Amino acid sequence: MKSYHLTTFGCQMNEHDSERMKGMLESIGYAEAPDREGADLILFNTCSIREKADNRLVGHLGEAKRLKTEDPERVIGIGGCWSQSMKEQVFELFPFVDVAFGPGQVHKLAEFLTSDSLTAQGYFEFEGFTGHLPMKREREFQAWVQISVGCNCACSYCIVPSTRGREVSRPSGEILAEVERLAADGVREVTLLGQNVCSYGRDLPKGAKTSFAELLSSVDAIDGLERIRYTSPHPKDIREDVIRAHAELASVCEHIHLPLQSGSSRVLKAMRRTYNQERYLDRVATIRDLVPDCAVTTDIIVGFPGETDADFEETMEVVEQVRYDSAFTFVFSPRRGTLAAELEGQLPHPVKRERMDRLVGAVQRHATDRAQRFVGRTMEVLVEGPSRTDPAKLRGRTRHNKTINFAGVAAPGELTEVEVTSATSTTLAGEERLLARLG
Ligand code: 5AD
Ligand code: SF4
Repeated sequence: MKSYHLTTFGCQMNEHDSERMKGMLESIGYAEAPDREGADLILFNTCSIREKADNRLVGHLGEAKRLKTEDPERVIGIGGCWSQSMKEQVFELFPFVDVAFGPGQVHKLAEFLTSDSLTAQGYFEFEGFTGHLPMKREREFQAWVQISVGCNCACSYCIVPSTRGREVSRPSGEILAEVERLAADGVREVTLLGQNVCSYGRDLPKGAKTSFAELLSSVDAIDGLERIRYTSPHPKDIREDVIRAHAELASVCEHIHLPLQSGSSRVLKAMRRTYNQERYLDRVATIRDLVPDCAVTTDIIVGFPGETDADFEETMEVVEQVRYDSAFTFVFSPRRGTLAAELEGQLPHPVKRERMDRLVGAVQRHATDRAQRFVGRTMEVLVEGPSRTDPAKLRGRTRHNKTINFAGVAAPGELTEVEVTSATSTTLAGEERLLARLG
């Protein structure tokens, strides 16, 4: 039997594509190897969102090259966004690579491996979904479900539209059938995936059009499923019906990740985000109004070209107003082929660094403050396994998407009640309510 080793970089979309790659490889007789050394096929599912992602990959490729030299029969494959962004150049830069493919060509990997001649091949069309491929889930009780591929936005800093192509929605019937199968198979929590989930369905043919809010409602109606999450909505497209779903549909979790990117309307315009500060804050006000306890998290970029001190202060003001439960913060990274990479006014590193430090300070302060509201409450937790910091304890996640470490006896995949005893910016601590389990 042949074996494979797969390393995944990047977002949840990539994690999910990797599950499809694994499923597909196992369906053609490959078994997973614990390390690269022992694998006939060494695969990378790559990301290109920021420069750091590129650099990390290059480090790993060194080992692949050495192993290929030791045994030229080994097959080296590079899939995903970095591969798509480089296309045939992958082979110029790394001649030891046998097969390169973009996110829309995962299915071609099996074709390549089962073909007679293994001469170097690149596959970079945008052909669509991995949804029909077999899947090997990381966890039995949690699953990702792709609802659309690609992105029609034109954010000037972002490489994704060029690596994942135009947006194509998957017909809702197909999505629901998949979620039904997953629920019947023991999945308690699904995360619906799309680059811009709130524009889901707009491209479907007349008669088959379904809005994202309607999709949420149909998924919520599926028996056995306890939790629905999704990522990511776009502030320009999230409507009241979607926000309302968090209040009205039992399985839709109390968490919305609403990427801000910048608090300055001027910078937002240069980013081509098509909303301004006022509109963003208006969406947050609707969330606070309809789902008061909802966790709100975000992505923020500092140091966009031309960002002035005053622009940055506006980002800080939005952070002060919204009081995020947590935020991913990024230093602007120029990406090949994007408009922003060519803009004048690229900022010196120390300025970016200083702004980042201030931003992170504020984000952490609010995250810590906001988390205190959970202390003393008994919360529903989906158990994920042993705690990473203390194996005597369990780790799970609340509906608000907070990681919680707690003393208890529940098994992975179970929903249980945990009393929260303390909270930091990133994690909660608590004790399982064993009596509640008996009752
Ligand atoms: N530089 C820095 N951060 C970026 N992101 C996307 N492109 C870039 C870039 N060129 C961030 C955005 C996005 C998140 C996934 O990554 O904040 O929401
Ligand atoms: Fe995901 Fe974007 Fe990275 Fe592609 S480039 S893997 S879409 S984060």
